[in-house]
Amino acid sequence: MNKVRQPDLGTPASSSADTVIVEIDGLPATVKAGTSILRAARESGVDIPKLCATSSLKPFGSCRMCLVEIEGRQGYPASCTTPIEDGMKIRTQTDALSKLRRNVMELYISDHPLDCLTCSANGDCELQDMAGAVGLRDVRYGFEGENHLDAPTDTSNPYFQFDASKCIVCSRCVRACDEVQGTFALTIQGRGFESKVSAGINEDFLESECVSCGACVQACPTATLMDKSIVDHGQPDHAVKTTCAYCGVGCSFVAEMKGDQVVRMTPDNDGQANHGHSCVKGRFAWGYSTHRDRVLSPLIRDSIDEPWRKVDWEEAIQYTARRFKEIQAEHGRKSIGGITSSRCTNEEVFVVQKLVRAAMGNNNVDTCARVCHSPTGYGLNQTLGTSAGTQPFDSVMDADVIVVIGANPTAAHPVFASQMKQRLRQGAKLIVVDPRQIGLVKSPHIKADYHLPLLPGTNVPVVNSLAHVIVSEGLVDDDYVRDRCDSDSFDAWKAMILKPENSPEEVEKISGVPAVDIRAAARLYGKANRGAIYYGLGVTEHSQGSTMVMGMANLAMATGNIGFSGCGVNPLRGQNNVQGSCDMGSFPHELPGYRPVGNDEVRGSFEKHWGVEIDPEPGFRIPNMFDEACAGRYKGMYIQGEDVAQSDPDTHHVEAALGNMDCVVVQDLFLNETAKFAHVFLPGTSFLEKDGTFINAERRINRVRPVMKPSQGKDEWRITQEIAQALGYPMQYDNAAQIMDEIAELTPTFTNVSFKFLDEVGSVQWPCNEKAPMGTPIMHIDNFVRGKGLFIETEYVPTEERTNRKFPLLLTTGRILSQYNVGAQTRRTENMVWYNADLLEVHPSDAEMRGIKEGDLVSLSSRKGDISLVATITDRVQPGVVYTTFHNPETGANVVTTEHSDWATSCPEYKVTAVQIAPATHRSDWQHGFDENAKRQGKILETS
Ligand code: SF4
Ligand code: SF4
Ligand code: SF4
Ligand code: FES
Repeated sequence: MNKVRQPDLGTPASSSADTVIVEIDGLPATVKAGTSILRAARESGVDIPKLCATSSLKPFGSCRMCLVEIEGRQGYPASCTTPIEDGMKIRTQTDALSKLRRNVMELYISDHPLDCLTCSANGDCELQDMAGAVGLRDVRYGFEGENHLDAPTDTSNPYFQFDASKCIVCSRCVRACDEVQGTFALTIQGRGFESKVSAGINEDFLESECVSCGACVQACPTATLMDKSIVDHGQPDHAVKTTCAYCGVGCSFVAEMKGDQVVRMTPDNDGQANHGHSCVKGRFAWGYSTHRDRVLSPLIRDSIDEPWRKVDWEEAIQYTARRFKEIQAEHGRKSIGGITSSRCTNEEVFVVQKLVRAAMGNNNVDTCARVCHSPTGYGLNQTLGTSAGTQPFDSVMDADVIVVIGANPTAAHPVFASQMKQRLRQGAKLIVVDPRQIGLVKSPHIKADYHLPLLPGTNVPVVNSLAHVIVSEGLVDDDYVRDRCDSDSFDAWKAMILKPENSPEEVEKISGVPAVDIRAAARLYGKANRGAIYYGLGVTEHSQGSTMVMGMANLAMATGNIGFSGCGVNPLRGQNNVQGSCDMGSFPHELPGYRPVGNDEVRGSFEKHWGVEIDPEPGFRIPNMFDEACAGRYKGMYIQGEDVAQSDPDTHHVEAALGNMDCVVVQDLFLNETAKFAHVFLPGTSFLEKDGTFINAERRINRVRPVMKPSQGKDEWRITQEIAQALGYPMQYDNAAQIMDEIAELTPTFTNVSFKFLDEVGSVQWPCNEKAPMGTPIMHIDNFVRGKGLFIETEYVPTEERTNRKFPLLLTTGRILSQYNVGAQTRRTENMVWYNADLLEVHPSDAEMRGIKEGDLVSLSSRKGDISLVATITDRVQPGVVYTTFHNPETGANVVTTEHSDWATSCPEYKVTAVQIAPATHRSDWQHGFDENAKRQGKILETS
């Protein structure tokens, strides 16, 4: 038996609150009503043999291995499909049952290769275990007759193989794909002896609809569907629980290890965000962590034209501190600062903002969350009183109407998307507000009730018009608003929302969304018993990002949709620790817990603990840092795990700023685009080497545990600590747990949190303190955190970025499932087989007008710059809109994005850029420059 296999109780747990008492093999057992006999027995320590059943799937009853006898009933019912009843007397082990099970097993084995000793599943195969459990010793039937032993193996998927000769046609894979993942990629073709699992019609897995989530591989009880990493490396010998480092769903995983080698990542059945499911990135795309491109020794150089020099940690840290001190001596205390990373742990982020505040003596700290979800923090804080989403993911299972705005969950938050799709298949209604036809609009067994395909930049008028219908048609929840919200603000908002310019008919003229659809969607949401809003960067990354967040909060409050399960306003966070990096005080005006640095009492508590005075003046935001750098006043920067040269808007401006600085320190896994402008490179650690916590989109604090030692020799928080010490500030932690203890001591929403507590409870959602010792899954239950919910008027101020004759199209951007952000990790994995270059989606009419065909190279120009991309012609985008992803540095998507940003938070307006496209014969000048730079960088490394 595999030593790290997670327990499998055979069928899903019953949700009943009632219990029944039964007798299993003569012993009494108390179990929840509605539990299957199979599960009841396993919960009581009696293992009934099974093959087609597994605890993540509804019972199917096909294999006939789990037969039992029930007193007073005839025959031998399947225990997986028979619910337990009060007073039942069940026998699981009788001579008759043993004989029946052996006969069934004999039939399976007679058509199965007898290569157990050399099979990669040896020791982790349920068929093998069951053959042992039923005592099968001989097979009476020979292998001469018809069998499947020569069936071919499909190795097309880069991560797993399908060896049809080993398939017992139990359907677990098909059901996992349907029930858990919701992709419906697999079928059982044929009948009887001819039945076989198929990924599409005459297609291999790679060509099929499969999205490589791995649920089928996990469900397979044999070696038929098998991770290639297990085939290559063998079975694991131990396991460590940790958290995925990709998106904000924050899936828990069991890292299965052989020595210090990861051989498989299996989603943790106890994971409270993912319940045993995963996507292709978390489950399979972890190879980047040991990729040969990783830099494992510190590098320094006096000028960015010089070659890098490998140095030891001591020299790198002393060099960094000396340069920072020299800059401050020459240009003043505020001439340096730092950027924290939403990819890093809370503990790593906390020490960087502490380094800036306590050792550099200013508040010039910002986070990469600035460029994604800063409007969420601002907008939800203003209206509700907390800079975070309101619900746990599981809440979606209680929603009647789901509204998805500016998010693409099946691509960017796939595990939550699978859960949402389960609820939609149960009958919940769906409204999608997005310029593009995202996957949820129409997919197997899912069809949005309304898709509002608005023009990029018109979120605010659309949300205002939804509110207009709700108010004008009497759909406001008056009792809720009267009891829970600020009445003056409601009256003012109502007056604004009823203005004629917010009517669907007027908004249709701006947004392009038919008024009739706006009205119908508003009625659907307004009349819902439980309406839930989920949104993403398609909301925040606009010049009105904060306005739109407040607009959604207004809408939810007006309809009484905050404070219980199945509703809420829920940001889907892009990176693994966006929530945490914001919580940890990464903003220039806020200390940890979103408390103003200008508040004497708050600042005093940190000063007392840290033993230094903290500057009461807010520091620079990232865009200000770049402006100041261009002006020659900001000269040094410590950048933790963030590739600003690639991910920030207006690349030319960012590069000019970085090129004008005297000491840029980059701490990362790889020499990224920003490192081209760096003077110090400090190698970072991958998530497999980190000890700490991440906080996901539902405020869940998850443990990240090291499965191997840091391969560059140092924890990242230690690097920061040593820089602080070299700057003269006595920062001293012995381990990451001590950092969390300090966070808990200084941050009221984290008071009860510690590594020890998290190890005991698994994970917890903040606030977690004296008032809520076990955390807070749902926010604002009786009252809003700010007291009364505040309606804020959301007048529409259009972006200054407008189309004209020269730039007649609107470019908007997004992600694809197989890639992640700037691609630093996923481009170093086999995920490249699915998507190895950013494509430009163009509507057929726009393409035809310009003579552009599928696969053509096109130039894309904006007021800021020119790039070239390969076009794909599709009606997923509407006429007048083009769309691309931003996963490859050589695409340079941000060369064309503008300096426009959210009025409240400076979050860049990535989602709206006026552009023109035309057929191209060669790549853009910027891309040629990029190629040259890359070659130069490679050369330098070779000679170092
Ligand atoms: S591939 Fe595995 S899970 Fe699917 S039917 Fe065959 S044995 Fe069962
Ligand atoms: S990997 Fe996922 S999507 Fe692909 S067939 Fe298996 S369950 Fe379905
Ligand atoms: S959904 Fe997100 S957190 Fe979960 S496995 Fe995929 S990338 Fe990781
Ligand atoms: S496990 Fe019950 S019929 Fe297969």
